[in-house]
Amino acid sequence: MTRMPPRRCCRLDVPYLSAFAIEFQTLGEWNRSDSGLTPVETTMMVALPEIDGAIGPILFGGRDGEGDLPDQARVNARAAVRASAPSSGRDMALQGERAERLADRVSRLIALRSSRKAERRVAVVLFNFPPNGGAVATAAGLSVIRSLYNTLEAMKAEGYTVDLPANIDELRALILEGNAERYGMPANVHARISANDHVTHERYLDDIEAQWGPAPGRQQSDGSNIFVLGRQFGNVFVGIQPAFGYEGDPMRLLFEKSFAPTHAFSAFYRYLTDDFGADAVLHFGTHGALEFMPGKQVGLSGECWPDRLIGALPNFYLYAANNPSEGTIAKRRGAATLVSYLTPPVTHAGLYRGLIDLKASIDRWRATAPDETEEIARLATLIQNQAMAVDLVAEDCPPWQGAAAREIQALCATVAELEETLIPHGLHVVGELPSIGERADLLAAMAELAQDIPVLPHHVFEALAQQEPAAQVVADLKRDAPDVYREALACEAIADHAGLVERLARLETANAGLMADTEIPALIRALDGGYIAPVSGGDVIRSPQILPTGRNIHGFDPFRLPSAFAVMDGRAQAERLIERHRRDHGRLPASVALVLWGTDNMKSEGGPIAQALALIGAKPRFDSYGRLAGADLIPLEELGRARIDVVMTLSGIFRDLLPLQTKLLAEASYLAATADEPVEQNFVRKHTLDYAARHDCPMEEAALRVFSNAAGAYGANVNQLIDSGAWDDADELAEIYTSRKCFAYGINGKPVRKAELLGTMLADVDAAYQNLESVELGITTIDHYFDTLGGISKAVERKTGAVPAVYVGDQTRGAGKVRSLSEQVALETRTRMLNPKWYEGLLEHGYEGVRQIEAHVTNTLGWSATTGQVAPWIYQNLTETFVTDETMRRRLAELNPKASAKLANRLIEAHERNFWAPSEETLDALRLAGEELEDRVEGLNVGEAA
Ligand code: BEZ
Ligand code: MG
Repeated sequence: MTRMPPRRCCRLDVPYLSAFAIEFQTLGEWNRSDSGLTPVETTMMVALPEIDGAIGPILFGGRDGEGDLPDQARVNARAAVRASAPSSGRDMALQGERAERLADRVSRLIALRSSRKAERRVAVVLFNFPPNGGAVATAAGLSVIRSLYNTLEAMKAEGYTVDLPANIDELRALILEGNAERYGMPANVHARISANDHVTHERYLDDIEAQWGPAPGRQQSDGSNIFVLGRQFGNVFVGIQPAFGYEGDPMRLLFEKSFAPTHAFSAFYRYLTDDFGADAVLHFGTHGALEFMPGKQVGLSGECWPDRLIGALPNFYLYAANNPSEGTIAKRRGAATLVSYLTPPVTHAGLYRGLIDLKASIDRWRATAPDETEEIARLATLIQNQAMAVDLVAEDCPPWQGAAAREIQALCATVAELEETLIPHGLHVVGELPSIGERADLLAAMAELAQDIPVLPHHVFEALAQQEPAAQVVADLKRDAPDVYREALACEAIADHAGLVERLARLETANAGLMADTEIPALIRALDGGYIAPVSGGDVIRSPQILPTGRNIHGFDPFRLPSAFAVMDGRAQAERLIERHRRDHGRLPASVALVLWGTDNMKSEGGPIAQALALIGAKPRFDSYGRLAGADLIPLEELGRARIDVVMTLSGIFRDLLPLQTKLLAEASYLAATADEPVEQNFVRKHTLDYAARHDCPMEEAALRVFSNAAGAYGANVNQLIDSGAWDDADELAEIYTSRKCFAYGINGKPVRKAELLGTMLADVDAAYQNLESVELGITTIDHYFDTLGGISKAVERKTGAVPAVYVGDQTRGAGKVRSLSEQVALETRTRMLNPKWYEGLLEHGYEGVRQIEAHVTNTLGWSATTGQVAPWIYQNLTETFVTDETMRRRLAELNPKASAKLANRLIEAHERNFWAPSEETLDALRLAGEELEDRVEGLNVGEAA
């Protein structure tokens, strides 16, 4: 494999396909392997080329080996390549099936490049997740339909044959409504594939029927036909990706391994290629299910479902710039070229309603002279009452009296935190640039996060957002606000006037990036078969170098992760966690259940990995080329405390993307377990010796601490169970979690099912912990946090009988802060769900905004179900804000009837599951509202059918 310098691809404007022969295993070993490539192959053949913009990683050959591919039509021509093998003298051979796929992909790209735009047929795929909840055409942080409208408009202007609807609402109605209700489907039924047609044309029918029964199956079908949902607009077909199919089916969710897609799913992709005749497909927004279908992690074969489904069709994927990890899965497994989109603007939460009054009273109290004792006492009572009204002080709290000053100081800090917390605001629209105000807020947030930019007044960022050059902004500051200017120069990181200009020039560049209209041009270029330049993915406020968007995002060089900075910071964060645990529980935790995701590590150069190592008392070892080579222990004297046992649960994404780090963590645990140290100074060793003695097993086995899904499977499915409501007993949540996550990954990197070991190790856990890496993604924003951190907390509870301490390490600002789960849920509820600034920003996007609000409510219930750490006032306030407030209820119902009915039903479900106990009056109002919303959904059905 040769690495193509990116500049060359850029000049040629051709895609750079990463095609390679494998060297570190035989073709037979690869074929039999569940994971595909080895860690080193993945790193060298796939991850490093991605940094240069490579797409569609595919092997075309490798070393012959016994047991090779007996059932595959392998072209047996010996490749001309006879490179020296590192380990065997076997010849290099072509892998025929893969070579053919590669040739087909290249041909399709060439055909795409030479096709005329007016004739080019493009399939756009929108998502519907979770199904049946008013979530059709939604995506992370994206205003999907508005973005699609802008894209179609641009395509038409470029010469594509597009029948463009008159406006955005019409586009939405044509896709989402149409004949949907007549068929009882969540979107317009565009085509019906008869069972006969399906059986004749489905190449993988046996595999699908083995899983889902006879064609056409029950998903998205009327028993005789499979429905293809979507709408055609000239030469563009906008289709809705079918669901996984197992949602709401607890038995299927329990599968440890993944299985075949549904009839409807496979038929959908066949329809795009064979029936619609797409020249290219554009997956629109983060993210869908194709790339998570079963198969090898990387280096896929023709037996892997993502590869079967996408085939040779050129695949472009509009993807959130802040999600390099899942984006990488789409690249590697779905052969997608990513085109990044900006995430929503970030702004300070600010205060609202009762919080504004409370702050005013606190300010007055602070401004009152100490000798005005009567006024001080009056204000203290007022403050306590106002704080009770916004649930910052418990209803039954006795009057503060003498302790008032301390309480008010603490409240003051809490209110300041609420006001200053950064939140995402609204949704991003492709083809529309952030406003001056939004850019100024983003620049201010970037400055705040950057260690080397001093505190500056907001007008500085407004000036930069208005494109004033940095030099001019600094000159103005010097002239108009000399005190601020002097203070800025006094900041340690700034040497002088030029230093300040240089810092602000970075923001000037970021502003130019925010103003560059690059996303639609990049989509157009991708659809022309051009080269999409690479960039590392990340959060815009922390990594402004992701700008401008419209690029093919990738992760960090895996050989260099965790970085030196991450190792240093990881130690500090680990100490913060220990300190918080000591404060709450008076001692060091003996064992911590740590959740590790790919995203967080890719954005932080491996911060959470470094935290895991620090807790154990280990560090990474690098070879003389600076490449990650393994783990070393930090001596106990240097560590200064006992080694903490860490039960690590990796997301399937982490496992796929960071195989070297998976081994690193396994090695660190093993080294600690086998270190000749007293057990009271080494909890890893203590627990390992106990287990080995009780089970009479080798230390290698008893020291396994890195757990994840089976190869090819993702997620704990706790989120699916919560979404469907199909659980009776909370133990079912623990059960599904452990059944999915009980695969231990040892030093050899191969997973082994070890449910008993996982259970035993969880019984020693004192605290569950996960990092929070992005402002954009709170623990109530997506359902994965309660799926993973909530899931493991529940699994620990089932073993110990008590909910463990659950902590979130907020890494989004400053030096980082450890919060208890209940603190974090409360903070997010106040700054987001109950904050008019937040929900009005979403409601500007109508239908999709309502779905986002509903998702937050569902995720809140997920935290109650898994940890019980959601305070009742949260449900009460959500009810008052979104359901019993008639104006708001009507508004939501108007925009998205299904999502608003789901929201109301969630709150009722929360009551039925005893997560809160509303008054009779509230409950009646909630029930009545729920019925009204349900009737509305039903009414739509009846109306349409008539
Ligand atoms: C990950 O990057 O590991 C991840 C991303 C989203 C959800 C869950 C895990
Ligand atoms: Mg996801």
